[in-house]
Amino acid sequence: MQRLNELYSGKAKTIYETDDDSQLIMYFRDDTSAFDGEKIDQLARKGMVNNHFNAFIMQHLETQGVPTHFNQLLSDTESAVKRLKMIPLECVIRNISTGSLCKRLGVEDGLDLKPPTFELFLKNDELHDPMVNEYHAETFGWASKAEVQRMTELTFKVNGILKKLFDDANLLLVDYKLEFGSQDGEIYLGDEFTPDGCRLWDKETREKLDKDRFRKGLGGVVEAYEEVALRLGVPLPK
Ligand code: ATP
Ligand code: TYD
Repeated sequence: MQRLNELYSGKAKTIYETDDDSQLIMYFRDDTSAFDGEKIDQLARKGMVNNHFNAFIMQHLETQGVPTHFNQLLSDTESAVKRLKMIPLECVIRNISTGSLCKRLGVEDGLDLKPPTFELFLKNDELHDPMVNEYHAETFGWASKAEVQRMTELTFKVNGILKKLFDDANLLLVDYKLEFGSQDGEIYLGDEFTPDGCRLWDKETREKLDKDRFRKGLGGVVEAYEEVALRLGVPLPK
């Protein structure tokens, strides 16, 4: 497959068109950002670690019956994916209370949430990704009722699969964000699943092993991502 022109460059990845209309190349850069792009930095090896991490998770989800956009690893920092029409909504599941949920609702940090919660956010940095609901989605044409239903169902399915995967690696899947898109009328999980878009705590110590290390200036960001990869058995180049 040939890499052609750049389609879009976001905060952490660049998307390229290819000589195949139905596929794109996702290039994972070393850039990292938080607080809607207010805090930015470059972290050596992050693009490589996230590309391999994402490939491992997407392939695992696919074997468990979740339709994903992932096609194949092309290099240490690039993957081929299905070209999707992205739905501009972020689906968030929380298994443990932390972050913006605690600020918004005044609930204690670290509570086991039973059942887990599901939230939708509009993908819009200028508006700071406001929380929306399925009625907003339909009214403003971001997603139909059936699409929201399917995204909700798949996000919960992913929760069951990944809670178990991380639990077996002595990690708690605290919360995470998923993005979906469509190709030929089918909904696929798109974008990425990496420690950039989820929270992972060590099961015993509750040490943070995700992007909160960057948000909170704790250091050892990529080292933490690599620790998670090692525990899961993600093959990483030296
Ligand atoms: P955010 O960090 O809030 O997700 P961003 O646009 O800065 O936003 P990046 O990860 O840097 O995020 O960019 C990747 C972009 O590619 C996102 O806009 C994402 O929605 C889009 N994207 C992901 N997968 C696909 C796909 N299969 N087809 C088309 N676009 C995709
Ligand atoms: P949340 O607690 O709402 O965000 P904050 O980081 O502001 O406390 O996020 C819940 C989870 O979803 C967390 O793991 C980060 C992830 N997420 C993103 O990666 N991007 C987003 O735009 C949103 C809304 C959430």
